[in-house]
Amino acid sequence: MGFPGTRMRRLRRNKRIRNMIAETTLTADDFILPLFVCHGEKIRRPVSSMPGVYQLSIDELLNSCSEAIDAGVGAVLLFGIPDTKDEEGRAGYAQSGIVQQAIPAIKKRFSDLYVITDVCNCEYTTHGHCGPVVNGEVVNDKTVEILARQALSHARAGCDMVAPSDMMDGRIFAVREKLDTAGFETLPILSYAAKYASSFYGPFREAAGSAPAFGDRRGYQMDPRNGREALREVQLDIEEGADLVMVKPALSCLDVIWRVRESCNLPVAAYNVSGEYSMVKAAAEKGWIDGDAVMMEILTSIKRAGADLIVTYHAVEAAKLLAKGN
Ligand code: PBG
Repeated sequence: MGFPGTRMRRLRRNKRIRNMIAETTLTADDFILPLFVCHGEKIRRPVSSMPGVYQLSIDELLNSCSEAIDAGVGAVLLFGIPDTKDEEGRAGYAQSGIVQQAIPAIKKRFSDLYVITDVCNCEYTTHGHCGPVVNGEVVNDKTVEILARQALSHARAGCDMVAPSDMMDGRIFAVREKLDTAGFETLPILSYAAKYASSFYGPFREAAGSAPAFGDRRGYQMDPRNGREALREVQLDIEEGADLVMVKPALSCLDVIWRVRESCNLPVAAYNVSGEYSMVKAAAEKGWIDGDAVMMEILTSIKRAGADLIVTYHAVEAAKLLAKGN
């Protein structure tokens, strides 16, 4: 039946009915908060392109974890900022490395906080690429070996989940095998399965100090022109042993999130990346948009597109708004 029998506005007349029929509900359980941890003490160094985001020494990291927990956020994603870098990224898998120190410190204070670690080399290499470079190219199989070592060192330090974010071929298989051999067969892997070579990562590279010194990441991350290819990446990672798959970035890839959701039955995560965050902050600061409202709309849209989990720098502020009933 069309108009005048059908009137869509009947179910939009007040907040109560709108809430009753809402198809998508955002909760603090959906959020994973990324945190950047560095050496030292009492360090809370602001990332200029990401207002509200800091490089944190472990003592300050604990304060941020405490704030997240108070807001109802139950999971964090750790990125390490080492004090030494080399061609291979050895500091990434050193058992005395910064992430390896941060994990037990968090677990000791907040045993229930779910600690996920980003597994990648770009923060640990002098050239800022995700693995050793030979003739201008990141060497795949050697990188995979290093990543597996890094994942194992995080497992040994006591993390709850590892998240390889490098986009080398075969790394999920290698990480799974390495973990299983060492007795960590119950540790899940969140694969950055469909990760695009995106300009939206710009501010992150300031936060993590991981901008490539030459070239870009198009030789290993996905071409934004491709959607079907994301489904192949996801399929391969599932075959290799991924427990959850991630699409990244989120806002420019809502179609990909949807297609991945439709194509598999694994939990799907989406990474609301640094550039997406910074654009909201910058426009809000100028008074051009209502930052809180835009933030909630973006997060809700990512969930509506099919994401079960959202990695987002907005996690704490969004959780606080949700608690207030917004
Ligand atoms: C590491 C990694 C990156 C991001 C997450 N893990 C940077 C990159 O691939 O260049 C980006 C996150 C963000 O922009 O918020 N490889």
